[in-house]
Amino acid sequence: MKKYLLPSLLSANFYNIENDLNELKKCNIKIIHLDVMDGIFVPNISFGIPVIKSLSDAVKKDFVFDTHLMIKDPERYVDEFVNVGSDILTIHIEATDGFKNVLEKIKSKGIKAGISINPETDIHMIDDVLCVADLVLVMSVHPGFGGQKFIDGALDKIKYLHDVREKKGYNYVIEVDGGINVSNVKNVIDCGVDYVVAGSAVFNGDIEQNIKSFYKIIGESNE
Ligand code: DX5
Ligand code: ZN
Repeated sequence: MKKYLLPSLLSANFYNIENDLNELKKCNIKIIHLDVMDGIFVPNISFGIPVIKSLSDAVKKDFVFDTHLMIKDPERYVDEFVNVGSDILTIHIEATDGFKNVLEKIKSKGIKAGISINPETDIHMIDDVLCVADLVLVMSVHPGFGGQKFIDGALDKIKYLHDVREKKGYNYVIEVDGGINVSNVKNVIDCGVDYVVAGSAVFNGDIEQNIKSFYKIIGESNE
């Protein structure tokens, strides 16, 4: 599977988001990662439906929208996040009891359904939904904030997901999110990840240079 860098807009400049999005476009970024937080499932509040709608109106033609819902009982808002242009909608296994039904609901809307798992959650909790999921998002920090340190336990989860995909012939995408930078991205790539999310390491400093540095490492693994 081809590997991609997904900038997380959580670390972008929302006062001048057009500038940051133009930089991403110039650097040939294909997928953007949108972190939605409710202050209940995670101890932080980010942005939600109207912001994604505005982004969608402006740049939907340029990017695939990967929406990461860090909200409790996400089934309440599936329709809204589909309607504002999410192409991939990821929920947390810890956020709802009916996660398999929610994934099926998302898929029934014609978009891709992702399941995410927190650092402290046993990977086997998602075994039953691997046959349904289009994407599995391994959190490598405790969700809620950008700029945290990568938690190494994510590496074994990525390897496990990669092995299971091979053995069972599943075709979910493996995504990792949190604390990724140019110094550790090779480790997650080597474990078999497909989508690498990075926030602060993309937007802090020179965006173009940062993306180039990432792509030197990720690009080589695509050749
Ligand atoms: C954390 C979010 C991440 C975050 C990543 O809860 O899900 O997407 O923006 O930021 P960095 O790359 O700075 O850890
Ligand atoms: Zn995220």
